[in-house]
Amino acid sequence: MDVCVEINRKKEERSEENFLNGIRMNSLSIIPYTQELITRRTSIRTYDLSTNINKEIDLMSEFITQLPASPFQGSTRFEIIQLEGRNKLQKLRLGTYGFVKRAENLLIGIITKPTFYDLENIGFLFECLILFATKLGLGTVWLGGTFSRKAFFSHLNLCNNERIPVISPVGRIASKQTLRSKAIKSIAKSKTRKPWSKLFFERDFITPLVKDAVKEFATPLEMVRLAPSASNFQPWRIIKIPDENIFHFYIYRRSPRSHRILNWPDLSRIDLGIAVCHFDLTVRQMNLSGEWRFEYPSHPVKEDMEYLLSWVSS
Ligand SMILES: Cc1cc2nc3c(=O)[nH]c(=O)nc-3n(C[C@H](O)[C@H](O)[C@H](O)COP(=O)(O)O)c2cc1C
Repeated sequence: MDVCVEINRKKEERSEENFLNGIRMNSLSIIPYTQELITRRTSIRTYDLSTNINKEIDLMSEFITQLPASPFQGSTRFEIIQLEGRNKLQKLRLGTYGFVKRAENLLIGIITKPTFYDLENIGFLFECLILFATKLGLGTVWLGGTFSRKAFFSHLNLCNNERIPVISPVGRIASKQTLRSKAIKSIAKSKTRKPWSKLFFERDFITPLVKDAVKEFATPLEMVRLAPSASNFQPWRIIKIPDENIFHFYIYRRSPRSHRILNWPDLSRIDLGIAVCHFDLTVRQMNLSGEWRFEYPSHPVKEDMEYLLSWVSS
């Protein structure tokens, strides 16, 4: 090998090692990078297998043991499994996974015990992991829909009470996304988000919240707006109390029971966990102090809205 090339390669390896070691020392700290990571993350469905990601997977496994606290109660565990070879992939019949190309590592979110806010809880924690993977330069895509839960159940030796609401491939991002990956993004209108006027309100569900009036809270709200959601439905709605920094979070229900017909988890509850995660990490990053409370607000609530929880400034 040409000496120059050899030296350059070593330099690259070393700087990558330093970068990863730096992250290891700060494995809890996605918070300082919240806005950048939220803005950078996008669903990836085509991966590149030309280099291994063993170091990154080790860091993710370490991060799993140090996840930030979620405001929701719940028992969860997370696993990263490596799928070897086409046969194994086909045997698992992962459903939606068929749209994902060349991913070998899968992050699995498992609810170990049913609790009232278990789906919101796993949404919050899984998104922390997704943002951490983004920090490591890896691609991910939330999959909550049509993958075969039954196949995973036997593959992972789960107990009877355990459920798998979400999984995500984790891998290097291919420089060229397949036509199919692009088509899915285009069908789900993945690049767009609803405007502020449809998501954030003041006092009631009629008066839109004016961005300039919320001052520094415009940033945490914008980070909620950018969150990923199943079918890009964006079911989060927020009401701010006038003259106070109190934000009530609601789930907008278009068709309340559709998930039960499909026998899927209630993905909107997971979406809300992601929205709460984005708000929480951003207020922490900005040193805006406050706390999460479950306090049913006194203002009238529309039938298609379900109250979830509130953030109250202190
Ligand atoms: C809870 C949840 C479940 C999802 N399930 C699937 C899925 O089953 N298949 C899929 O291709 N994408 C799935 N997605 C990805 C969304 O389609 C995607 O996040 C959304 O279109 C926004 O695009 P973006 O992630 O590129 O910003 C899911 C996202 C979330 C948050």
